[in-house]
This record gives sequence, structure tokens and C-alpha cells, in this order.
Amino acid sequence: MSKPRFAAIILAAGSGTRMKSSIPKVMHPIAGQPMIAHLLDTLRTLSPAATVVVIGPQMESVARIAAPAESVVQDPPLGTGDAVRAALTPLDGRLAPQGDIDEVLVLYGDTPLLAPETLSRLLAERRRTSAAILLSAMRPDDPGPYGRFVVASDGSLECIVEAADANTEQRAIGLVNGGIMVIEARHLWGLVDALDRSNAKREFYLTNILHIARRKGLDCRTVELPAEELIGINTRAELAEAEAQMQRRLRRAAMDAGVTLVAPETVFLSADTRLGRDVVVEPNVTFGLGVTVGEGARIRSYSYLEGAAVGAGALVGPFARLRPGAVLEEDVHIGNFVEVKASRLGAGTKASHLSYIGDSDVGARTNIGAGTITCNYDGFNKFRTIIGDQAFIGSNTALVAPVTVGAGAIVAAGSVVTRDVPADALSIARGQQVDKPGRATEIRARQRRKV
Ligand code: UD1
Ligand code: CA
Repeated sequence: MSKPRFAAIILAAGSGTRMKSSIPKVMHPIAGQPMIAHLLDTLRTLSPAATVVVIGPQMESVARIAAPAESVVQDPPLGTGDAVRAALTPLDGRLAPQGDIDEVLVLYGDTPLLAPETLSRLLAERRRTSAAILLSAMRPDDPGPYGRFVVASDGSLECIVEAADANTEQRAIGLVNGGIMVIEARHLWGLVDALDRSNAKREFYLTNILHIARRKGLDCRTVELPAEELIGINTRAELAEAEAQMQRRLRRAAMDAGVTLVAPETVFLSADTRLGRDVVVEPNVTFGLGVTVGEGARIRSYSYLEGAAVGAGALVGPFARLRPGAVLEEDVHIGNFVEVKASRLGAGTKASHLSYIGDSDVGARTNIGAGTITCNYDGFNKFRTIIGDQAFIGSNTALVAPVTVGAGAIVAAGSVVTRDVPADALSIARGQQVDKPGRATEIRARQRRKV
């Protein structure tokens, strides 16, 4: 028999009231990317036959992130059971027994920490047991807001009681609903059609399908999965917990891949951060989205990087800021209080102190002195600065773009460079120094006569 084909449904239409936010809950980022993007990435590794995301009205941002997965609007959102019903419409015709989809994996959009292996385990377990419904169970430290699994006297699952509907005795139950489940496609319509709203929230609870399935004599089972992967995010505090959990995972993965994190708990990574072998990251460094760091580079303390590519052997920081479009080739040194934006720095180039390099192309083995600023913006437009190989830019130079400094040129300290400097020229662009011998003594004498 061929492997069963599954469709995935992600429920993301809830208004997320407990987040007290004007953006949809599933768009809140974890490790730099919206929580729903984590789920979609995880799902992609399992190649579902179809993916449908259920969104609420005015959630075009979620639909855009979800594409090419299909989105359906649930309006108004009347509960998780109603959301699954909304998702069945585009899948109709594809569900077994008529269609090619044998099972449906339901995921809650606010449960983003699932690992691909955990989802595979859930699918494999359903196939092994042939259960009509396989629910995920967990035992978190605090069963708080989760649905409680009520077990019948014969040991079988009786129903799930939502926290809002539970009595004191039920609230004490430690085994709770993790939210993800696999349902045999051929039973889905029948189960969802039987749901009602007789509960505290007046919602169609998906979790009631367990009770309905039992009445129909269908086999329902649970598999216990790691609670740390099943955290549901309802509040900002839970969002912070999920972030911490994701950071631990990313740091661990970086270290496993040969990166030294001197104080891992102080380094913040994004989901897409790529650090090469033997990269050393000192304490208190933040990686925003889109950063790659080549082999053996060192990122020193208190640096902030985003959208930047750091070449092998480079040295960045302490206190450096790399902004989007910063490209540092091999062995570049960027020192303290240096900011680089939309600029390429050639191999071996150094900007060691207090500089702003924006919209620039800098050659190889060039030295950029302390306090050098590229004046790239005239209040209306941005302009580029081009500096050739092996140039020397003296301290406190202002390069007023658009401007080019040729290869091998030397720019004297304190220059304000407004015209192109030819290759190998010495450029001095500053007021002349005037010394008046003895004049200081005269001034002091005059001041003394006044008092
Ligand atoms: C739900 C479960 C609970 C489980 C917990 C796990 C139900 C009734 N309860 O509770 O048993 O322990 O998740 O995290 O299912 N959504 C929609 N449309 C709606 C309502 C919700 O798409 O009409 C989406 C939400 O956007 C969210 C997900 O479904 O992503 C879960 O909804 P939420 O309100 O957070 O459910 P919980 O109360 O956490
Ligand atoms: Ca939830």
C-alpha cells in the first residue's frame, strides 16, 4: 500500500485578544520571523499534499506570508472547530474516500516551536495505530489555559474539557491537549458537522470531535509529545518564553555546527542566521535577520548585525553596527563605534574606530581612519562613495558623496572631500594652519590688565 497522503490545516484566524495587539497574533516574531513562518518552514520539510491556512478578516499580511499555501478567510471566527470547517471547503473533493488525501494534520498557528521530527512522529503513530483521530498530549509544568484530557473509568479517553469550562477537579488534570492532531480524512466532515456551541465561550470547539468520535465508535488515541515544543502562545509572556526556547535551540545548533559562543545565553540569533565553522561570538551580540558570517570570523562584544555578510577571518566590533547591505570581504576589520550600511568593503580593509560608511564601495587593503564619515545624504537623495584599493583615508575625513577616491590615494586628516581624488594623489582639503609666534602670551597679558 502506498504511503498515505496528508493535507495540513493551520488555524490562524483567532483575534489573539490576550496579546492586546493590533497585529495578528501569528505575525508576532520569534527569532526575527513571524511565528506562522516557523510553522510553514517546518511543514515544508514534510511535503504535505496541500496546506490551507485559516485567517481572519483583515489578515492579508498572514495570507502573504503563507503563500503559496492557500488561505481561507473565516469570518467571523467562531472557534477552532469552525476554523477547520472553513479549511475543508478548498480541500473538498480531494478528501478520501473520493480524493487523494487520506489524513489531515491540524496545527494551531500559535504553536510555532514544533520540530519536523515531532510532526513526523505524530503522522507515523497515526499510521501505525490506524486511529481515526490521534491527538497530541503533553504535561506542561502549569496546565493553565490548556484543554484537559478526561479519561473514562476503563482508561480510554472520554473528552477534552477546555480550561474555561473545567471544574476544580478537572483543572487539576496534568495531561492536556497539545493542539496538534491528525484526523482520518474520511471522517472529517461528519465530525465537524456534529459540533455545537454549548460551552462557556459559545464557540465551536474542535476539541469536541473527540467526544463525537467516541459516540460514533471511532478509535481515538493520544501520543505524548515534548511540552516545550507544544507551547501555545496566547500572551506576551508566553511569546517571551517561546523566544527563549527558540534562542536556546538556535544557539545549540550553532555550537553543534562548530561555532564558539563564549556566553551563549547573551547572544541573540535570528532563524536564518548562518555562522561558519570556527566563528567566535563574544558575549552580548545580536544578529538580526539575514546575516551570514564566514569561517573563522570573530564578532566581538556588543555588536549588532542585520542583513550583513561577513567574510571569513573578519573581525567585527566591539560595539560595531552592520546594517542591511553591509558586505565585508575576507579579513576586514571593523572596530568600535563603526557603522556600515549598503557598502562593500574589500578584503583586508580596516575601519577601526568611530566611522560611518554608507552607500560605498571600498577596495581591498584600504585604511579608513578614525572618525571618517561618508556624507551620503543631502536631505533629499542618497549618493555613493567609491574608494579604490590600498587607499589611506586620514582621520576625521568627510567624504561628500557622490565622490571617488582613487586607488592608492592618501587623504589628509580632517579633509572635507567634495571632488574626486585621482589615484595615488595626496589630497588635502582643509583650512590652512596659521601660527602667530608669541601671540598667546600677548593675549594673556591683555586679559590680566582687564582684571
Ligand atoms: C486550544 C485548544 C486547547 C489546547 C490549546 C493548545 C480548542 C477549543 N482549544 O485552546 O484544548 O490545549 O489550544 O494550545 O481548540 N483560531 C481560529 N479560529 C477561531 C479560533 C481560533 O483560527 O475561531 C486559531 C487561533 O488563531 C489559534 C488557534 O486557533 O492559532 C488556537 O486558538 P486559541 O484561541 O489560541 O485556543 P486556546 O484557547 O489556546
Ligand atoms: Ca492558543
